[in-house]
Amino acid sequence: MNKPIYFFANWKMYLDNLESEKLAFDLVDYFKDKNDNISIAVLPSALSFISVKNILENSNIKIGSQNSYWIDKGGYTGEVSMQMYKSAGSNFSLIGHSERRHIFKESNHDIREKLESAIVAGLTPIICVGETGQERNDGRAEEIVEIQLRAVFENILIPDGLEIFIAYEPVWAIGTGKACNPEDAEQMHQKVLTIANVLISSANVKILYGGSVSEKNVVSYLTKDSIDGVLVGNASTKIDTVVAIHQALSKEIA
Ligand code: PGA
Repeated sequence: MNKPIYFFANWKMYLDNLESEKLAFDLVDYFKDKNDNISIAVLPSALSFISVKNILENSNIKIGSQNSYWIDKGGYTGEVSMQMYKSAGSNFSLIGHSERRHIFKESNHDIREKLESAIVAGLTPIICVGETGQERNDGRAEEIVEIQLRAVFENILIPDGLEIFIAYEPVWAIGTGKACNPEDAEQMHQKVLTIANVLISSANVKILYGGSVSEKNVVSYLTKDSIDGVLVGNASTKIDTVVAIHQALSKEIA
């Protein structure tokens, strides 16, 4: 396995400001002498973005937002825009996470607006797609993911070579400890790549898997052909589990 590997740490709303700063310091310390092809990026809460960014300043760890709004500035109480994150030093923008879709009722239309805004702001988008347990049981998993991809990518102008991450995150696997079987995930990743090749052929698409990733299963995903990395929630919020995941990957690379 000598491809570059991406490890995105989605901290969600798990950590308060002090806990976020502490974890950022621990990550800088752990990764400071690591010189491998595993790239790490953290997605802290909006509250902790600036302080975490400052802690990561001279490290090789990148940073992104969990959620942002598509209009640059104005009367939008509670929101932070893509442009604002960009000017605060963000590299990535997580868009359409299933918790945003399901709990906060974000629509495919909202996700499309966010993607366009991220591209204009110069942020690297991470677009999340995935079916619910019911949809998978009904045999509709691929159809649902295709609908989500079409809604977000159809007729969009993508600058040549623009890096876009697409994270396959089955809703039923998120935060449940019931990770998707790696063969089923790979089948979906190939489907996603086939659709992306048609809809956004000019983009440089990278595929992530997310949903109950741990040190026990991470290698089984990364050894598949179509995948470039993982989007990790719960296990990314503790230094011990981040280290365990990194070590599992490092052993595989060695
Ligand atoms: P989890 O979350 O690793 O806690 O399942 C993944 C995600 O929602 O990105």
